[in-house]
Amino acid sequence: MTRFEGKTVVVTGGARGMGAAHSRGFVAEGARVVIADVLDAEGEELAGELGEAALYRHLDVTDEQQWAEVVRAATAAFSAPTVLVNNAGIGGSGTLVEDKTLADWRKLLAVNLDGVFLGTRAVIPGMKAAGGGAIVNISSFAGLIGTPNAADYTTSKFAVRGFTKAVAMEVAPYGIRVNSVHPGYIRTPILGPLGDEVVHGKVALDRMAGPEEVTRMVLFVASDDASYSTGAEFVIDGGWSAGSTVGIGQTNAQYYQQNSES
Ligand SMILES: NC(=O)c1ccc[n+]([C@@H]2O[C@H](COP(=O)([O-])OP(=O)(O)OC[C@H]3O[C@@H](n4cnc5c(N)ncnc54)[C@H](O)[C@@H]3O)[C@@H](O)[C@H]2O)c1
Repeated sequence: MTRFEGKTVVVTGGARGMGAAHSRGFVAEGARVVIADVLDAEGEELAGELGEAALYRHLDVTDEQQWAEVVRAATAAFSAPTVLVNNAGIGGSGTLVEDKTLADWRKLLAVNLDGVFLGTRAVIPGMKAAGGGAIVNISSFAGLIGTPNAADYTTSKFAVRGFTKAVAMEVAPYGIRVNSVHPGYIRTPILGPLGDEVVHGKVALDRMAGPEEVTRMVLFVASDDASYSTGAEFVIDGGWSAGSTVGIGQTNAQYYQQNSES
C-alpha cells in the first residue's frame, strides 16, 4: 500500500518503541518521515536505516522553539507536514498521589500534555495551507479508565483525549482530522522488564501486544481510510477498558462455588 505517497509525516518520540514502529510503517507506505526525539543516537540510526525518506531531528516536545525548527526542517527537506503523530510520552512515578512531588507532576504533564499542545499548534497553519491533514494523539487505556498509582499519567492521558476532541471541532472546516489512539500494554522500553504476566487473567485477549499492532491502527487513523473519523477514540487494549475478566470461561455457579471455597 502507498497511502502516504507524497506526504510528510512527523512522529514525536520516533526513535524507539512504538514511535520507531510507526516511522517504519509510514516509510513503508510511501511517506517521508521526520523522526523527532531526544534520543539522538537511536534517532540517527533509525533514520539511516530508513534512507532518504527519513530525517532525524532533535526535539524536546516541551520546547516551543524546537517545534518551530522541526516544522521548518521538515518543510525544507520534504514539504509541510500534513500528518503529525504526537507519540512522545513518559511514565509516571508509580507512587500514591500523596507521595508525588509537584516537580514530577509538572514534568510529566509538560511532556505528555504540553508537548501535544505545542505540536498541534505548530503544524496547523501548514495543514490549513495544504488543504487538510491528520493529527493522531497517542493517549492510553489510562485515558479511558482510572489507574491506581498513576494519577499523574492518567490525568495527562485523559487531558490528551479531551484536547483531541476540542481541537477536532475547531479544525474540521479546514479538512484536518484529529483523533486519539488508546493502547493497552504494549511491549516497549517504557514498561521495562514487564512481560505478558502483567496482563495475564486481567485482559480479555490475555496478552500484551507488539508495537506493530498499534502501528497498523495509527496508519489507518492517519490515512484517508479514516476520512470520516475525527474527535474519535481508537482503542487497542486487548479489551482492558471494555470490562472485567471475572467469570470468563465459567458459569456464574462455577464462579460462585470457586470463590465461596477460597
Ligand atoms: N507501552 C505501553 O504499554 C503504552 C500504553 C499506552 C500508551 N503508551 C504511550 O505510547 C507512547 C509511546 O510510548 P512507548 O511505549 O513507545 O515508550 P518508549 O519509552 O519506548 O518511547 C517513548 C519515546 O518518547 C521519547 N520522549 C520522551 N520524552 C520526550 C520529550 N520530552 N521530547 C521528545 N521525545 C521524548 C522517548 O525518548 C522515546 O523515544 C507514549 O505516549 C506512551 O505514554 C504506551
